[in-house]
Amino acid sequence: MGHNLNELKDEILNFKAENKQEIEIFRLKFISKKGIISEIMQTLKTVTIEEKKEIGIKINEIKILAKNKLIELSNKIENKNISEKSEDLTLPPLIKLGSRHPLAKITKILLEIFQKIGFNISDGPEIEDDWHNFTALNIPPNHPARDMQDTFFINKDFVLRTQTSSVQIRKMENTKPPIRTVSIGRVYRNEAVSTRSNCIFHQIEALYINKNVSFKDLKQTIFHFVKELFGKNIKIRFRPSYFPFTEPSAEADISCMICDQKGCKICKYSGWVEIGGAGMVDPNVLDNCDIDKNIYSGFAFGMGIERISMLKYKIDDLRLFSENNLKFLKQF
Ligand code: DAH
Repeated sequence: MGHNLNELKDEILNFKAENKQEIEIFRLKFISKKGIISEIMQTLKTVTIEEKKEIGIKINEIKILAKNKLIELSNKIENKNISEKSEDLTLPPLIKLGSRHPLAKITKILLEIFQKIGFNISDGPEIEDDWHNFTALNIPPNHPARDMQDTFFINKDFVLRTQTSSVQIRKMENTKPPIRTVSIGRVYRNEAVSTRSNCIFHQIEALYINKNVSFKDLKQTIFHFVKELFGKNIKIRFRPSYFPFTEPSAEADISCMICDQKGCKICKYSGWVEIGGAGMVDPNVLDNCDIDKNIYSGFAFGMGIERISMLKYKIDDLRLFSENNLKFLKQF
């Protein structure tokens, strides 16, 4: 006969089907006219009467078993399909969570870097008076340095702040040194909107005032911040520059991570990207805030947050930050 009936029984009982195709395989193999059970039934013609009785009873049992198994498998698949399709109407609607704006993300990272080295956070108004935005920063009325920043005037006494350096003045006016503070916020300039500039953008400003603060403290702080943000392999260089509120003044560049200093559009094929201005707080500024310049000295620096984010996240168009394009925002 060629088939062990006990093994056949076990095979039927243990058969597993995940879908309709597998149930059909079961049916063809065991129950169909050309299946194993029919084949065994055919062989009964050739055996003795005693054997026929014994095997006939067993094979009939197996036939019933196989038919029941087929019903069981079909019901299982049917129920599975129903439970997959049906909705639980008592569940609350699925709310898709948004993502953080890249500027919010970078702000959090920057504040954490500075807080870890002892800087606290300061804030100031976006509508700023002439004194805090210009005069106290050693830029008196009619000084040519006012032309460095195209200003939106509210009236003759108030402007939309052009730089977060105004927060330095507010902090120094109402805090006794030592002062170690950072401020992040929106600034405004009357500039054409392009891939590299916008009339509204964000800056971070850092200020440290204490006894014996020197340029090496400034360099070390910028080194630390750049390496924390961009990684240990980034190179930094300082170029002499001019800002009315610092003396000496410098601009800080970092090695271009977009092209690995091979030269690209972002670094204008120089291998270096400017990240911000810095310097030792001018004694005139300390005077303006009633801080004794013979006892205290300090450093300050300011950087564009969009610029930093563009480098960190390899974004090549500054306008993306304010366009509310979901395809862009969902990447963060
Ligand atoms: N406020 C400057 C600007 O907007 C940037 C800056 C330069 C800030 C030098 C500083 C500094 O604190 O020391 O261009």
